[in-house]
Amino acid sequence: MKRFDNRTVIVTGGARGMGASHARGFVAEGANVVIADVLEQEGRTLADELGDHAIFSRLDVTSDRDWAATVAAAEEAFGPVSVLVNNAGIVRFGQIEETEPAVWRQVLEINLTGAYLGIRAVVPSMRKAGGGAIVNISSAGGMMAYPNNAAYVASKWGVRGMTKTAALELARDNIRVNSIHPGPVRTLDDGRAGRRGGRSGGGKGFGDSARGRAL
Ligand SMILES: NC(=O)c1ccc[n+]([C@@H]2O[C@H](COP(=O)([O-])OP(=O)(O)OC[C@H]3O[C@@H](n4cnc5c(N)ncnc54)[C@H](O)[C@@H]3O)[C@@H](O)[C@H]2O)c1
Repeated sequence: MKRFDNRTVIVTGGARGMGASHARGFVAEGANVVIADVLEQEGRTLADELGDHAIFSRLDVTSDRDWAATVAAAEEAFGPVSVLVNNAGIVRFGQIEETEPAVWRQVLEINLTGAYLGIRAVVPSMRKAGGGAIVNISSAGGMMAYPNNAAYVASKWGVRGMTKTAALELARDNIRVNSIHPGPVRTLDDGRAGRRGGRSGGGKGFGDSARGRAL
């Protein structure tokens, strides 16, 4: 018996980087995983590699319609959703004065509003499953401040606050909600990160540039 036998899991941003690593880990523990991402080719390739226990669903986390379609696809393929990992995220560097409003809105829209839309979309399915767990990937930047990263830090503090509120609201439905706060993690941008434990050298990814793409 494995920890996630026959559980239905959605991992957003699951096509590459840490999300792909999460997807592989869940399948190894017996889960059925929906790899949900805007990166169709990478996501389908990973789902093929993982076999019968994974499907790909094209999801832009900022789209209500995509969320509804992804939850429906998960239920149809594997049954009600037990776990959601809100992992999709972007980083755009810049001090507050330099950050264009469009960039600020894009970071908040994907990192924070995307996670909020995900929680709204999966909760009815989790109630059908009798409960579940939502894991929101924040950042060390959701616990402290970094200069030159205003939009990202604001979004990740927002994720942390939303997580605590959702945890209080959803406990009565047997749904746990937690955030996690990684420090810099070297990832590749070619989908190989999970196979190497997400820490291999070479390649370019969130944690890889001289400035560090994510914190
Ligand atoms: N790598 C780090 O150092 C680090 C540190 C702390 C937190 N994090 C957080 O971990 C998460 C994953 O980071 P990573 O390093 O694996 O990044 P990555 O860039 O390798 O992967 C991010 C994934 O999110 C997807 N994505 C982006 N916008 C999307 C959208 N609108 N809808 C759906 N999918 C979308 C991308 O296509 C990609 O597959 C992010 O939330 C990031 O903020 C990363």
